[in-house]
Amino acid sequence: MAKILVNNNGPLHGEVTISGAKNSVLPLLAATLLTKETCVIEGAPDLVDVKVMKDILRGYGATVDDSNKDELRVSTEEIISVEGNPELVGIMRASIFTMGPLIARKGKAIMPLPGGCTIGKRPIDLHLKGFRALGAEVEEDYENGKIIVTVPETGLKGDVIYLDFPSVGATENILMAATLAKGTTIIENAAKEPEIIDLANLLNKMGAKIKSAGTDMIRIEGVEKLSGSVHEVIPDRIETGTFMLAAAITRGDIFIKNALPGHVRPVIAKLKECNVNIDLTPDGIYVDARNKNLIATDIKTLPYPGFPTDIQSPFMAFLTTVEGESVVRETVFENRFMHVVELNRMGAEISTENREAIIPGGKKLYGAKVRATDLRAGAAMVLAGLVATGTTEVSEIYHIERGYENFVEKFKSLGADIMKVDHD
Ligand code: EPZ
Repeated sequence: MAKILVNNNGPLHGEVTISGAKNSVLPLLAATLLTKETCVIEGAPDLVDVKVMKDILRGYGATVDDSNKDELRVSTEEIISVEGNPELVGIMRASIFTMGPLIARKGKAIMPLPGGCTIGKRPIDLHLKGFRALGAEVEEDYENGKIIVTVPETGLKGDVIYLDFPSVGATENILMAATLAKGTTIIENAAKEPEIIDLANLLNKMGAKIKSAGTDMIRIEGVEKLSGSVHEVIPDRIETGTFMLAAAITRGDIFIKNALPGHVRPVIAKLKECNVNIDLTPDGIYVDARNKNLIATDIKTLPYPGFPTDIQSPFMAFLTTVEGESVVRETVFENRFMHVVELNRMGAEISTENREAIIPGGKKLYGAKVRATDLRAGAAMVLAGLVATGTTEVSEIYHIERGYENFVEKFKSLGADIMKVDHD
């Protein structure tokens, strides 16, 4: 099993360039199913999840030309299947983002029940509530582990849909389906993440009529058909936050190129509360934690624009090294403290009660054999390893490779003593 080995090599220093956002490129690729014409997605990160999504699209009949690494050219002249490949869907639950486009374009989608994962049950009831509101019939065939969504002959019809939780995926799926529905759809209590705006920008370039994406009420006027377009993926705000924390935890200084400060405001605010110096420039974010007396702060994860749940575990790793007790509250996922056990193996002495973790802080961490329990927790373990005494060995790193492009290389370029080993 591949592992990442990390040793403490002092403060990180230098410049790192942020890749395209994983959580944007996946819905953008799904949206290409909405037209027969060619869509060009520029700046897609080279990730396992992107490879899986390309294979899922090919399974529906798409031609995906990835010969030029700077752009993915996708065209689906004919949809030959409306059923997601069970193996691929099992690997990546973001496959469910293809349901909205399939029912809009083809009137049907058959999706193997997406697995939950370590961070929670991750139901898709809000996605299905949206499809039903647009007039589709949804059959949850648990016997065969499939969801079958069928649109009546009359097609999808716009409606007002209230999301009980501002689900990112449900907002994206409903948004895509509504672009080709008859009449007006309003999504209330919609997710406001930057990835929603990025998707709406691509869809509007394709000819959709979407207003006020990025607010909690999105209005979509259905159109007859959509055309091809060219679109560049926004930078990855979660990768940005991860490298901000790499500077903070190692007490180093890093210039994070291509980062959009507006997408990471909570992380900027919280690191400033810890006395980390942060300068915003037109080209990126400069984080300087050298010679600073850092202090603890509390974080509470919330839907955007609140503190992002995907930065919770990397921030917790940082808080273990800062003098003073801090409290981390996770309100988005019900089981996103799996990394606490791993950090405690390194001497963090964190305690948890339901969705609250108490970090005593001021700890000297010791290298240990730890697991990446999810994509972001894997990054957190590497961050902890950068400052631990002795070697830290992170296993199950396939999680990390799903979502961070050139992860080890980028850390190496900042002076980290880190390597990937492909054997036990
Ligand atoms: C997206 O997942 C991201 N993934 C996640 O990033 C991110 O953590 C999450 O949004 C929250 O920001 C992608 O974009 C591919 P949600 P998604 O629907 O859409 C509940 C990473 O590390 N819920 O906003 O699945 C759900 O159980 C990943 O990059 C329902 O109850 O997130 C959860 O508690 C991890 N019913 C909460 O909402 C539904 O129908 C947030 O889920 C849908 C969601």
